Amino acid sequence: MRQAGRALPEYRALKEKHSFLELVQTPELATEVTLQPIRRFGFDAAILFSDILVIPEALGQGYRFREGGGIEMAFTLQSAEDIGRLEVGAVSERLQYVPQALRLIQTELKRETALLGFAGSPWTLANFMLEGGSVKHCTKALELFHHQPALFNALCEKLTRAVAHFLNMQIQAGADAVQIFDSHGGLLSAEDFAGASGRWMKAIIAELGAQVPVIVFSKGTYQNWDTLADTGAQIIGIDHGIRLAEARTHLPPHVAMQGNLDPARLVEATPEAIAAETAGLLAQMAGREGHIFNLGHGLPPAARLENVAAVISTVRRSL
Ligand code: CP3
Repeated sequence: MRQAGRALPEYRALKEKHSFLELVQTPELATEVTLQPIRRFGFDAAILFSDILVIPEALGQGYRFREGGGIEMAFTLQSAEDIGRLEVGAVSERLQYVPQALRLIQTELKRETALLGFAGSPWTLANFMLEGGSVKHCTKALELFHHQPALFNALCEKLTRAVAHFLNMQIQAGADAVQIFDSHGGLLSAEDFAGASGRWMKAIIAELGAQVPVIVFSKGTYQNWDTLADTGAQIIGIDHGIRLAEARTHLPPHVAMQGNLDPARLVEATPEAIAAETAGLLAQMAGREGHIFNLGHGLPPAARLENVAAVISTVRRSL
């Protein structure tokens, strides 16, 4: 359950004293935030507290949060020169706080809980970098892909090298699996998906080899099952826009699935309703191997904690 932090009073208490970036960049604090949901709920896996935007930052394009919500990059990538200046060689040194945090977290977890590392997909990162932050309608990355393909490829090659190196650092530091967030994958037509997003994720996974399982979460990309399977990911994250049983019919049997309870239900449903919904999802997958129960996307800040507890007890009872 990603971004679990915001729903927890203990996270909000830490945010009173530290900025988001301080929490991310200080290994002891990132460790504390990573462990908070594990202590409270006892999930089977912890996800590193960090953000996909640490990669643009390490390449030389910082970010901050706008007062009214959303992300603002320090500047917008606008030219071949801007892309040329991104420093892939700086990733190791500038992101040392991530392997430091992962080592601390692994010590605390005592191998009883799996630990996930992660990064954004090149396509998703390129959208933030070319738009200069979060915007309602992304157009720039798609425009570059179609009208200046050499420049688009130059940017995605750099991002691919940076992300592969960064995920390798996380694996060396003890991540048990890594997840690639292709949150903007659904912006692409079935025609464009493989060239604009799939091929870069495939290159990253090839570079990682078979060290640990890789999960690809590509939101809203239901026309691209073949391309998703072809990335080489062992697990495909499924969002809540499609039934798990249907997704199962499109993916080859050796590919596992992760998902996909609707996160919005955790805000407004009763614990009884949420338990019934969770049981329904598990029933769809009963008797089939290769299902990791999860939400279909991140946990909303207003999620009711008794609903999270109801999900967990329902999943545990089914095992
Ligand atoms: O559960 C976790 O906390 C795991 C760590 C994690 C965060 N972000 C922490 C975070 C992970 C895995 C992410 C991924 C991430 N970050 C994605 C891809 C995942 C997805 O949901 O599709 C994206 C697109 C980002 C970029 C980003 N960071 C956005 C769009 C926002 C929201 C900005 C806003 O206006 O609220 C963030 C902030 C962020 N990242 C928070 C957390 C806990 C919230 C910070 C806070 O409000 O305290």
